[in-house]
This record gives sequence, structure tokens and C-alpha cells, in this order.
Amino acid sequence: MSKPAARARIYRGTPRNLAMLARALRRGGLVAVPTETVYGLAADALNARACRKIFTAKGRPANDPLIVHILARGDLDRIARPNDAARILARKFWPGPLTLVLPRQPAVPDVVSAGRSSVAVRMPRHPLLRRLLKLGGRPLAAPSANPFGYVSPTTAGHVLAGLGHRIRYILDGGPSAIGLESTIVDLRDPRKPRLLRPGAITRAQLERALGRPVLTARVSRRPVRGAQLAPGLLTRHYSPRTPLVLHRRIDPKDVRADHGRDRAWLFIAKPRNLAGTNIHWLDPRGNLRGAARRLFGALRSLDAGGFKAIHAELPPGNGLAEAINDRLRRAAARG
Ligand code: TXA
Ligand code: MG
Repeated sequence: MSKPAARARIYRGTPRNLAMLARALRRGGLVAVPTETVYGLAADALNARACRKIFTAKGRPANDPLIVHILARGDLDRIARPNDAARILARKFWPGPLTLVLPRQPAVPDVVSAGRSSVAVRMPRHPLLRRLLKLGGRPLAAPSANPFGYVSPTTAGHVLAGLGHRIRYILDGGPSAIGLESTIVDLRDPRKPRLLRPGAITRAQLERALGRPVLTARVSRRPVRGAQLAPGLLTRHYSPRTPLVLHRRIDPKDVRADHGRDRAWLFIAKPRNLAGTNIHWLDPRGNLRGAARRLFGALRSLDAGGFKAIHAELPPGNGLAEAINDRLRRAAARG
């Protein structure tokens, strides 16, 4: 079988291009869009046929529900049934990298929520996506714009590399400012908020806003058909093809003793007293925001570097470190 030719084009966010992309969405087409977290693959969230195309393009199993992106807080009631906890978090953190799981409204097609009685909603901050939401006049369902299981895209080029032969339209909004997918919190029971996915809005921020603890949801570690809470949160996810080995601390002695070219060493901060072509770091000073922003790009380029293994050091601590750790662990999980 020959590989289908690439046919996607990358569009800058000019008024004319945005109008054209909004028309494509209204006609039921797919458009890859920038968000402040990662790029998403968007379709009209109220059009079941359009949303089904997302699953086909990504190779995503139908039991893995999508996030609905809305323009304004006032659009929430059309998609979900918010409670007080949801209103508090929406007021405090939207627009921004926070997704709320709530009881769903009947207007949301089954395919979007994978047949569940709940739906995931977020109000994104990226200005180009907001203009597109406004022009389209519809909420947009969008998962990350990567082939299922691979590392999420943080540039238009990443989307082109992964889905270029499956879609036509990519809106370029520059590199994603945050670089990790949104925090997801399950608020179906407002008295028991549960963290489904850590992200740039930290557990501590949620706890302060809600005035109660936010526990981690137990997510099934194995694919179980239809059964688990958030199928996309399987351990193995966001994975480069090159095996990834995690360390609480990489001993510089081990790195110095490694005279081969088979291994890449990935640090959060630029390591002192180590140099070499297979020494890499995410942020010169170990700033976690910088590290989060560059993590997926680094995993992609190391994955293309022909190494037999990537050795990465986990950042200690909570907050954004929890989200970076989560993505590194998923990227390292096999099978
Ligand atoms: O930052 C983000 O959230 C990005 C951008 C594009 O907005 N989107 C994203 O979507 O990461 P995706 O599909 O790659 O991850 C969404 C996760 C999935 O793991 C899915 O299982 C979970 O959200 N999810 C969606 N609806 C849910 C629901 N009703 N209940 C529980 N989990 C849900
Ligand atoms: Mg994803």
C-alpha cells in the first residue's frame, strides 16, 4: 500500500483565512487549531457526523470522549449542567487550561461524550481559537491533534507531521504557550472533586478555590472496553517510539561514563559540568513553565534522533512538576 500524499496546509490567522476555516467547520469539516495548551483537532461539537471524523483521523477508539471548547462562560449551560463548584472554577480559571467534567445536556451528541452521561468542557484562551469560535458560532469538540497514543502537538508543524495526510486545514497560532494538555477535574459530584489529569492549573489552586481537597481519580491502568472513567488517561499515552527510562536523579557519573551515542540524557535544567551532543535540557535554569512548554517538542526531536533510549530526570515537587511527571510517566509506560 502506498502512503497517501500529504494534503494539509498550514494557514496563518488572517481575517480571510479565519473566515474560510470557520466556513469549513460549519460545513462539518475538521480544522486543527492552536490552543494555549496543545493543538487540537476541531469539529462542530453539535454535529455528530463531523465529530465522528475526528475519531477516524486520529485513529482514536470511539469510547474515548472529546472535550467541548466554548467561547464564553454563558455557553456552558447549553453543553453541561453546571453546579456551584463548576461556576466557581469557571469564574476563576476560564478562559484557561482547565477542563470540567459535568453532567451533559442532550444537545451534545453521543459521539462527543462516547455515550456517557457526562461531558468535558473548557473555555480556551488562545486569541486565534477564540476568533474562530466566534466566527463559527458553534462550540468545537477537539482532542489533541496527534495520532492516537503519540505525543501531543505544540506547533502547527507537529500537527502536519502527524496528521498531514488525514486532514486539510491547520491554523497556525505559534508554539503553544503552556505545552501540556489542560487540567481535567471531575465535578459530577461537587462535594468530591477529582483530578483526572494534572495540568497547568494545579491541584493546590483548585483546592484553594473550592475550599476542599481534590483527590486523584483512580483510573484503570488497562484498556477495558467502555468501562473506565477516562479512557484517554490510560497509563500508556503521549508516547515516543524510543524507549524512555525515568530517573529520580541522573548521576552525572553515569552520564560521563556513557561514551556511546545510543543514549540521550534529558534534564529539566541545564546540567552543570556536563557537555556533549547527547546531553539535553528543557529549560536553562530549570524553570518549570519553560520545561512544560518544551517537553513535547523535546520528546519529538529526541524520538527522531535515532537513539536506542532516552533517559530523563523527573522534576521533584508538586504543582506543575506533578503535570510534567504525569506526562513523562505516561510517555515511559510500555504496553
Ligand atoms: O488541553 C487540552 O485539553 C487539549 C486541547 C486541544 O484543548 N485537549 C486534549 O484532549 O487534551 P484529549 O482528547 O487529548 O484529552 C481529553 C481527555 C481524554 O483523556 C478523555 O478521556 C477525557 O479528556 N474526557 C473527555 N470527556 C470526558 C468525560 N466525560 N469524562 C471523563 N473524561 C473525559
Ligand atoms: Mg490527547
